[in-house]
Amino acid sequence: MNITVFKGDGIGPEITDCVLRILDAAGAGLSYEIFNVGEAEYEAHGALIPDEAFASYEKNKVLLKSPITTPVGKGFRSLNVMMRKKYDLYANVRPAKSNAAVKTPFENVDIVMFRENTEDLYAGVEEMISPDEAHSIKIITRKCSERIVRAAFDYAVKQGRKKVTCVHKANIMKLSDGMFREVFYEVAKEYETIEAEDKIVDNVAMQMVMRPQQFDVIVTENLYGDILSDLTSGLIGGLGLLPSSNIGDGYAMFEAVHGSAPDIAGKGIANPTAFLWSACMMLEYLGKTEAAAKIRRAVDEVLMEGRVRTPDLGGTATTAEYEAEIIARL
Ligand code: NAI
Repeated sequence: MNITVFKGDGIGPEITDCVLRILDAAGAGLSYEIFNVGEAEYEAHGALIPDEAFASYEKNKVLLKSPITTPVGKGFRSLNVMMRKKYDLYANVRPAKSNAAVKTPFENVDIVMFRENTEDLYAGVEEMISPDEAHSIKIITRKCSERIVRAAFDYAVKQGRKKVTCVHKANIMKLSDGMFREVFYEVAKEYETIEAEDKIVDNVAMQMVMRPQQFDVIVTENLYGDILSDLTSGLIGGLGLLPSSNIGDGYAMFEAVHGSAPDIAGKGIANPTAFLWSACMMLEYLGKTEAAAKIRRAVDEVLMEGRVRTPDLGGTATTAEYEAEIIARL
């Protein structure tokens, strides 16, 4: 089975090589079509993503993508935003689960966030009204709200979850968020076994650090989901541990939630776990659940034992030492 791999910037190439070696050691049975993409590729060849890389993804339909640097305020638009829009990868799924081996002030967190990925303030509809006034338009449609809400409920049923919480700000944005909330309850009627509730986003931010265990599956709009999912990563020990998938009808893209970490790039100390767990989500998507389970088990064992950990988790191990420890257990 072929998949497309984008290597990206910063720590991207290091964690990609590491993850592919682990996938092979677990007997995942995948072949890789690997492409350099991102800032370095843009500077070298003038394109952020070479045409052959797009063609490979359009053929294979499954992409494992490492992080890419997006310059602030100049140059190209975020490649991530572009990929999500181009391939209509409308559901951004971010599971944040406490790991007994990684101590944080919060225990037993197990939140799966479904973030709408294609519209809201990220639709890119912006204009300068005058040199001193800029407008960014928030777009919410019934169609996109319905499909993300449905994806969240379908997941809840499939994974034996109990509750879906709709996060919004409908008290202020009565039309856009009001419709999102309304669609949520319309769809919820079709899922009698799952509890449905809604909460206002600012309250959710507070509740998440007071009592995160109350949340199960969350479905929300693009901007709120972006911010709150970084918050959930903090609850479980940081960005180095949060995987994600971007799923559409036909296409899927798997990536870590963190960025290219230029501050530690090339030092050989990046934590590949989030990217590895993203690869596990990909294996599960492809039906290769056994290989995924094997890798998850090996990672849990290594983290639990605590002897070999990367510096972001308080250890002193290099990426290579951590990788070797995982592979030894496969
Ligand atoms: P970042 O996530 O790259 O880094 C934030 C902090 O977390 C840094 O101190 C970094 O060293 C640490 N960190 C992140 N991932 C880590 C890992 N795997 N192991 C150990 N430590 C890790 O966020 P930042 O600095 O805001 O963004 C850097 C670049 O990445 C920017 O150009 C940004 O646009 C881009 N970015 C790309 C994303 C993607 O391609 N999916 C997502 C987020 C940011």
